[in-house]
Amino acid sequence: MYSSKITGLGFYVPDNVVTNDDLSKIMDTNDEWIQERTGIKERRWIPEGSDDTSAVMGAKAAKIAIERAGLTSKDIDFIVFATLSPDYFFPGCGIQIQEMLEMDTVGAIDIRNQCSGFVYALSTADQFIKTGMYKNILVIGAEFHSNGLDKTTQGRGVTVIFGDGAGAAVLTREEDTTKGILSTHLHSQGAYADKLIVESPSIRNWVPELMANPKDTSYFPEMDGKFVFKNAVVRFSEVINEGLEKNNLTVDDIDMLIPHQANLRISQFIQRKFGLSDDQVFNNIQKYGNTTAASIIIALTEAWEKGKVKDNNLVVLAAFGSGFTWGSVIIRW
Ligand code: UT7
Repeated sequence: MYSSKITGLGFYVPDNVVTNDDLSKIMDTNDEWIQERTGIKERRWIPEGSDDTSAVMGAKAAKIAIERAGLTSKDIDFIVFATLSPDYFFPGCGIQIQEMLEMDTVGAIDIRNQCSGFVYALSTADQFIKTGMYKNILVIGAEFHSNGLDKTTQGRGVTVIFGDGAGAAVLTREEDTTKGILSTHLHSQGAYADKLIVESPSIRNWVPELMANPKDTSYFPEMDGKFVFKNAVVRFSEVINEGLEKNNLTVDDIDMLIPHQANLRISQFIQRKFGLSDDQVFNNIQKYGNTTAASIIIALTEAWEKGKVKDNNLVVLAAFGSGFTWGSVIIRW
């Protein structure tokens, strides 16, 4: 068996900053409510007329990650792309990356696991590397939320949370199994699929049906926020503990926890519960909102760029979201 090591990281967010005050001009909301309940101060939304999409942003982040890994796109053996906002219903964004980065005809898959998407993507790539099938895998998380949100007061409970952006990692095969990804832990609970969902358009409720029924707004995300919040804090804790136990580690071994950036209050709850200091938990939801499959990889990249993720550190990634799906990744950096 081999080990998989993250050898390159990159992220891209659109320049267009949307503040809470900007939102209060288009819907009945305010900076105080948003900051108090979520910690979010601003997010990036792709502006009208921009060419950015999930795939385009993913490619921009990927170029940075590949360069930082000291590789070229020709060295990549496989692509794993996590998103809930793909450019097309089909085919997926992964194949677009193959084309955009002028890569060889390597395989590409899309992962559809929402907020846990990047954790699932990393775990998938890790299996291909550990078994020796591939050497360098490009793992991307990207979301173009803003075009699919209800920007009226009716959608305020969901819309104020989400931001656009992308992050990418290059995962590389290593012989030293004491370093790199130590383990990954994945879970799902479909009983609660309807608690955070975009129902349409779907094959069950396709565009002609939607157009025939103007009252049907099920193409906007719907969320039972309190229910999701309550489940998130429980599952985050469980899956972090599961990862630590699997590796005979304890909370004291954690150097850096990077939680999915769903809500600053969730991250703070977990931080308190595990007794971690501010230096041991990285959050950037204040600047970018919840970028779903991109949030962990954007946060990891930013933490690394700030020198907060160092050689030999124990880094824990943890996510929870729509599905429900949740998971963790334990990394010896
Ligand atoms: O990343 C995937 C996983 N997602 C999550 O983990 C999200 C988890 N949930 C949450 O973060 C929180 O539930 C929210 C931040 C989404 C909402 O906070 P909440 O404290 O659960 O608020 P609420 O939805 O219960 O709404 C409370 C009040 C309501 O008014 P009334 O009925 O009490 O008069 C809402 O209409 O706040 C109102 N409200 C708003 N007011 C101003 C809802 N959204 C807004 C808004 N601005 N944007």
